[in-house]
Amino acid sequence: MTQDELKQAVARAAIAHVVDGAIIGVGTGSTANFFIDELAKIKDRIAGTVASSEATAARLRGHGIPVLDLNEVESIAVYIDGADEINATGAMIKGGGAALTREKIVASVSKKFVCIADGSKLVETLGKFPLPVEVLPMARNAVMRRLAALGGQPRLRLKDGAPHITDNGGELIDVAGLAITDPVGLERTINQIVGVVAVGLFAQQGADVCLLGTADGVKTLT
Ligand code: 5RP
Repeated sequence: MTQDELKQAVARAAIAHVVDGAIIGVGTGSTANFFIDELAKIKDRIAGTVASSEATAARLRGHGIPVLDLNEVESIAVYIDGADEINATGAMIKGGGAALTREKIVASVSKKFVCIADGSKLVETLGKFPLPVEVLPMARNAVMRRLAALGGQPRLRLKDGAPHITDNGGELIDVAGLAITDPVGLERTINQIVGVVAVGLFAQQGADVCLLGTADGVKTLT
C-alpha cells in the first residue's frame, strides 16, 4: 500500500469515532484532508465542525459541511487530526502543516483527541522531525537563541524565500537535532519562552487514541 492509501484507511476508520449530532474538531494536513472527504459522506449526522486552519475550513465548506467559530462553541466531542511523529504514549510532534497553534486550541476544548497517521509516524523517541514553534515575528531571533541554548538547531521556516506566515500572523521556527526524552518537560520549558505562541509538542495533552495505518491494516493504540 502507498502512504496515501494508508492515510485513506485511517481516515475511513476515524469515522467510527465521530459522535452523531455533535460538533467535530478537524485537523490540518493530507491525512486530515482524507478524513474531511470521508466526513462529507456522513455530514448530515453531525451538528457542525470547528476547523484548525483556513485551509481546512475551506475544504470543509467546499463539501457543504458547516464550520463554526470556536467562540460559538462550548465543547467539541472529538478532535481528529494527523501528526508528524507520535510515540507509544500518545505524545506528538505536530505543525509540519503550519497549523499547530489552532490545532492545539481546538484540541484543548475537545473531549477526545483521535490521531490518524500512517505507520511511518510512530517513533520511539520524538525529535527526528524538526520541532515547529510558532513565534511573534519581533521575537524571532530572541526565541531562536533560547531554542539553541536548549541544544537544538533552530531554523526559520521560509516560503517562497520569505518567512512563512501562519493563519495567525506568526512565524515558524523548526528546531532540528532534539532527542526529546521528556516531552512534557520540554513542552513546558518552550511554552515559558516569551514570544512563543505555541510549540508543536502535544504531550501535556496528547492523543487519547491513535489509528495507525500499516500494511496489516489499521491498528489502534490507546
Ligand atoms: C499540520 C499538522 C499535521 O497533522 C501534520 O503535519 C501531518 O500532516 P500529514 O497528514 O500531511 O502527514 O500538524 O500542522
